[in-house]
Amino acid sequence: HPGDGYLAWLQYRRVTPEANVNPYAGYEHIVVAEGDDVVIRSAVNELTQGLEGITGGKVSVSGKTMKTRSVIIGTFGTGSGIDEAFSEEVSSAIQPEGYAIHTDSLTGNITIGAATSQGILYGVFHLLRIMGTGGSVHNLNILENPVNQLRMINQWDNMDGSVERGYAGESIFYENNRITGNLQRIQDYARLLASSGINAIAINNVNVHRVESRLLTEFLPDVVKLAAVLRAYAIKLFLSINYASPIELGGLSSADPLDAGVREWWTAAASEVYAAIPDFGGFLVKADSENRPGPFTYGRDHADGANMLAEALKPHGGIVIWRCFVYNCKQDWRDRTTDRARAAYDHFQPLDGRFMDNVILQVKNGPIDFQVREPVSPLLGAMPHTNQVIEFQIAQEYTGQQRHVCYLVPQWKEILNFDTHLRGEGTTVKRIVDGSVHGNAYSGFAAVSNIGNDTNWTGHLLAQANLFGYGRLAWNPELSAEKMAVEWITLTFGTNELLVQTLLDILMNSWEIYESYTAPLGVGFMVNPDHHYGPNVDGYEYSMWGTYHFADCYGIGVDRTSATGTGYTSQYARMNMECYESLESCPDELLLFFHHVPYTHVLHSGKTVIQHIYDTHFEGAERADGLAAAWKLMKEHVDEQAYRQVADRLAEQVDHAKEWRDRINTYFLRKSGIADQWGRTIY
Ligand code: GCU
Repeated sequence: HPGDGYLAWLQYRRVTPEANVNPYAGYEHIVVAEGDDVVIRSAVNELTQGLEGITGGKVSVSGKTMKTRSVIIGTFGTGSGIDEAFSEEVSSAIQPEGYAIHTDSLTGNITIGAATSQGILYGVFHLLRIMGTGGSVHNLNILENPVNQLRMINQWDNMDGSVERGYAGESIFYENNRITGNLQRIQDYARLLASSGINAIAINNVNVHRVESRLLTEFLPDVVKLAAVLRAYAIKLFLSINYASPIELGGLSSADPLDAGVREWWTAAASEVYAAIPDFGGFLVKADSENRPGPFTYGRDHADGANMLAEALKPHGGIVIWRCFVYNCKQDWRDRTTDRARAAYDHFQPLDGRFMDNVILQVKNGPIDFQVREPVSPLLGAMPHTNQVIEFQIAQEYTGQQRHVCYLVPQWKEILNFDTHLRGEGTTVKRIVDGSVHGNAYSGFAAVSNIGNDTNWTGHLLAQANLFGYGRLAWNPELSAEKMAVEWITLTFGTNELLVQTLLDILMNSWEIYESYTAPLGVGFMVNPDHHYGPNVDGYEYSMWGTYHFADCYGIGVDRTSATGTGYTSQYARMNMECYESLESCPDELLLFFHHVPYTHVLHSGKTVIQHIYDTHFEGAERADGLAAAWKLMKEHVDEQAYRQVADRLAEQVDHAKEWRDRINTYFLRKSGIADQWGRTIY
């Protein structure tokens, strides 16, 4: 059903069906100039399906005959007519995954040229995106290369079918401790990913339990099937591995990275995987983190651990992606000197230069854990001799769990545009993770997926925008959050201007709204323990997880300054360190992340901290109401099923935002004893 969300942004519907003339009429012929591999076949299938939907005609595919209004696809340098469509300058500027698109003004023929079949696939998706959003194809002269090399998705799927932090049903990859037989669903997911530019995926949770460890061995034949489906969409498959595999699978007594037997075990395991999947991507590793095994047990460090795996993968061209989410998760809340925010930097920065060149460190965007607001991780860019990728979380673990709308692209953009000042002004995070600042061999983006087996993939239909936006941003971090939102809305819902504008407003305001009724001034973790949904100011206050706000009757916040606090600020380059260190310059939205202040402290906004808390919570809940009201007006402009899905989630958000408002306001009124200036109801 068109409104159930399954087709997501690949609707391929006729744009402006009310107009008499279809601007794409006649584009019903595809010419495959040369080459026939699995990726080209996917590209042709996609183009056929897309053009048939968009033109309403029957599409034919042939070899070399040129007609008018044909779409011609092929690779350069094969003497197939592709080269003639492009200047030497254009074709030589195309990198392996890039493409060029050109319209011949006389014939109307559109040529998509690339250096590889992968580039052709991306070019096809680009053309379909233009047509799907009602763009002109008369004078196309496009040249595109991805900015980031690795554009990866991490599935946190377990083989029992559950998804860690999954908010959209069960896994599409596994059920009953087996790999799924429903390869169609995997293929449809691969199409979504490839269409937004994703080129890599780790198919199992970073927390690798006993059964998933066996993906490397016993389940390998089924992994091969998944790899084949993904390969056809130019997506490389990675596995999350269990560091203790030599013990758990191999029966060895140790997993010591410097032990010869252990190294041999990994070398053999890697060889077997590559024998089955020659283009296997490599391993994703969560080690010595949240009770997962790792090299620490043997008195070794992360470099020892990562390099052992890197050595096993190296002969096959594989890489190790080693996560930096390492901290003491058994902290005593009484201990005010240990600061979880410091942990990643303290653990990894001293190891710069020790990692092999096929190791990449995967660094979460912030120092804590995907909160609605955090500063940028100071580890990003701080290891000039080490490959790094940034890790985002598309899954809305702390941002409404896909029951609240929260378009995350504006948050990601802010992070990517953050100036670390590590190599002088302009050392932005996006330039660090694209590898250009330090000249890294490997670099890019990774993110935790937000999909499951719900028909609409993401639970909240509007959460699809995050998956789409992530891929597009990984391809090109310069794209604006607004442009990507408009693209997604138009491809998904059509071109009705009122609808597009309404949805755009909903998406673009959603992060700010969510932040305003949940987490004031950069304080994090005021959530219910374990599942992390809903307000609980002291939910983590006396826990072992290192996530505290220290609210008492006078004030709130964590002193992370170098002068009087944990010294976390010293992990930043001087400009940023000084900015965060001082109460005068620290931005309001991060104030409580860096400082402990009285409730009466006056913000740059002119309000006191306590009044800010009250105001934002009242306003936030009201604005959540506004989102639902705006959507109600769209009822007649949108498919009924799609309307309902979104309306139901927004209704829940409205209620739940009130719960947040009242819990947080009441807590702080009771703690501080300071009344709301406007005398509103607080309980
Ligand atoms: C968070 C999340 C865990 C996850 C962990 C990680 O802490 O709540 O479920 O395993 O991040 O990134 O490894």
